[in-house]
Amino acid sequence: MRNIGKVTFQGLVIKGQVVLKRGKLMHAIYEKLMKCFEIVQAKVTFRPKVALILGSGLGGYAEDMEVEAAVDYKEIAGFPISTVQGHQGRFIFGYVKNVPAVVMQGRVHYYEGYSISDVVLPVRLMGLLGAETVFLTNASGAINRSYTAGDFMLLRDHILMGVPSPLIGPSVEELGTRFPDMSEVYNKNLRDIIASAARALDIKLHEGVYLQASGPNFETPAEVNAFGILGADVVGMSTACEAVAANHMGLKVCAISCISNSAAGISPTPLTHAEVQETADAAAPRFKALVTESIVRIGSA
Ligand code: HPA
Repeated sequence: MRNIGKVTFQGLVIKGQVVLKRGKLMHAIYEKLMKCFEIVQAKVTFRPKVALILGSGLGGYAEDMEVEAAVDYKEIAGFPISTVQGHQGRFIFGYVKNVPAVVMQGRVHYYEGYSISDVVLPVRLMGLLGAETVFLTNASGAINRSYTAGDFMLLRDHILMGVPSPLIGPSVEELGTRFPDMSEVYNKNLRDIIASAARALDIKLHEGVYLQASGPNFETPAEVNAFGILGADVVGMSTACEAVAANHMGLKVCAISCISNSAAGISPTPLTHAEVQETADAAAPRFKALVTESIVRIGSA
């Protein structure tokens, strides 16, 4: 047998990490998650119902919340911290109208070099903190030619492209089963609720397929063309992996994308991060209203 680590009083230790506790299978990914969970739990007793992950443009969302507590990611040892400009790094606990929620101001992306299990650690943590519903938001480029910048799309399904499944590695049975079903990652009931919220606000809402590419480069026109043939309506660099991890642990998932640009080859001009940010910022008031109305309706469903 290969010598992979040493057995101490605590259990099997590899590179200083207890990966197998005496008497109990404890995987390193789960161990790290539990450590983060313990740190946050020691700081906050608030129990959220909804976990909201803010994408581009929604950074200021928490300003309208009744805030009960905030935890900087820096305070959580081992927690992945974003290197992207414009992404703040903290959890806000409080009420969206009367719905208890935890809001992630800033997320990490796979392209930042974190392992895929680190990328989904925050969403798992919010599930452990009590959230039953995960509400994901993002900015994306339109592949579907009937979509324009400033539109919104409700995710019906997704394609992971060049990004590994967040469930790769030893099975963490504490979180979920080895081979989870993914035939309805984005909960149909939640989709109906969000669609009714959009109708009530008179906001146009497409429903379609999101493709998560690895980034950080924008796609080539040939890739965009290929993704369209595969069935994608929009392309972005987040969300699908988080949705898989949340679904794996039995959370209800929904997601809305703010279309910030036409994808490469469809757009007449080269893509820039500034363009994405500008359009997402301009759409932010309508995006905020849609998210809030959706959460209110989810809270009373
Ligand atoms: N491609 C990938 N990610 C994105 C885009 C895009 O065109 N726009 C916003 N995020």
